[in-house]
Amino acid sequence: MKIVSVVGTRPNFMKIAPLVRELRKHEIEHVLIHTGQHYDTEMSKLFFEDLGIPKPDADLEVGSGTRDEQVKSIKEKLKPIIENEKPDVMVVVGDVNSTLAAAEVANKLGIKVAHVEAGLRSFDNTMPEEFNRIETDKISDFLFTTEKSGNENLLKEGISKDKIFFAGNVMIDTLLNHKEKAENSKILQKLGLEKNNYCALTLHRPSNVDNKEDFENILSILEKIQEKIKIVFPVHPRARKNIQSFGLDNKIKDMKNLILTEPLGYLDFLCLMSNSKFVLTDSGGIQEEATVLGVPCITLRKNTERPVTVEQGTNLLVSIDNEKVVSKAMEVIDNKIELKNKVPELWDGRAAERIVKVLLNS
Ligand code: UD1
Repeated sequence: MKIVSVVGTRPNFMKIAPLVRELRKHEIEHVLIHTGQHYDTEMSKLFFEDLGIPKPDADLEVGSGTRDEQVKSIKEKLKPIIENEKPDVMVVVGDVNSTLAAAEVANKLGIKVAHVEAGLRSFDNTMPEEFNRIETDKISDFLFTTEKSGNENLLKEGISKDKIFFAGNVMIDTLLNHKEKAENSKILQKLGLEKNNYCALTLHRPSNVDNKEDFENILSILEKIQEKIKIVFPVHPRARKNIQSFGLDNKIKDMKNLILTEPLGYLDFLCLMSNSKFVLTDSGGIQEEATVLGVPCITLRKNTERPVTVEQGTNLLVSIDNEKVVSKAMEVIDNKIELKNKVPELWDGRAAERIVKVLLNS
């Protein structure tokens, strides 16, 4: 059996790592392709090192651009490689532009597509990821879901039951695999932090950082929270660019308890997250990771495609309403929140094993 898998952005790397390891245990020829959608050392190379992912067999180096430019460029560069490799299955993970572009290339060439993390839906069509999820699922032959809501969403969209496999969460495979090692990270000392006495922040959703007014609103939320607790903010390149272009540097500098860093590697960020008092984020994956770590997660979004983290986990879906976020943060800081704190079904570190088993038996 021959499998080609395609990754392109930071959240893809944690998802592919356990699959690569599992594929190696079997008689499977595996070719790994990086689209180069993320290309900075901090957004890409560090993750390959931290997670022990082998160097990709090809890097398409598509880099930045609009969504259409990225997708077009990936397709043009990937097609000849896939025609040459002729895999039995193409594995794609997550919901980024690289995911959909790669799935479309394989589908056009009559190659089966396996989508890992299928079925998640925010029902928010303004999110580029929602489009990528729906379109990728439409053309996939194996749809591996992380939570039961995914199965329900896919069935409602008319996808045949025998293509859907509830496999668990590969991102959590990676977390459980690296949790112990991450505790050796020196990031807390480096940033002068005390365990359980700071908040870890991430921000990068276009809906939060691409519009000056919304970004300013978030900064005024941070202003209030940092009066009570240190906030550590590893800054995503999208947010970094907009801080500069909207002229928000000074507003940020004025906040004495807001610590900015470059994007962190996997082990450092895992250590930062697991020792924090709480996480403030607009990321998808971090809602899941915080749930497994048992760390409260205040999500700066109106919706989530990962409802199990709210129903069973530590996710507090709050929106970016200034008062609501600040008051929720104060409740968390003052230990007034009772968390559900249950680990969702099959988030047990064995998702990759179940996925590869299905592919091998196909
Ligand atoms: C992408 C994904 C998003 C995912 C996120 C994680 C899509 C539609 N979005 O968003 O789902 O949660 O990655 O990070 O695919 N940039 C750099 N260096 C890099 C990478 C990007 O400077 O290594 C810059 C780009 O030039 C661009 C901006 O950051 O201006 C955004 O990059 P892009 O790949 O378009 O999307 P993300 O916002 O990172």
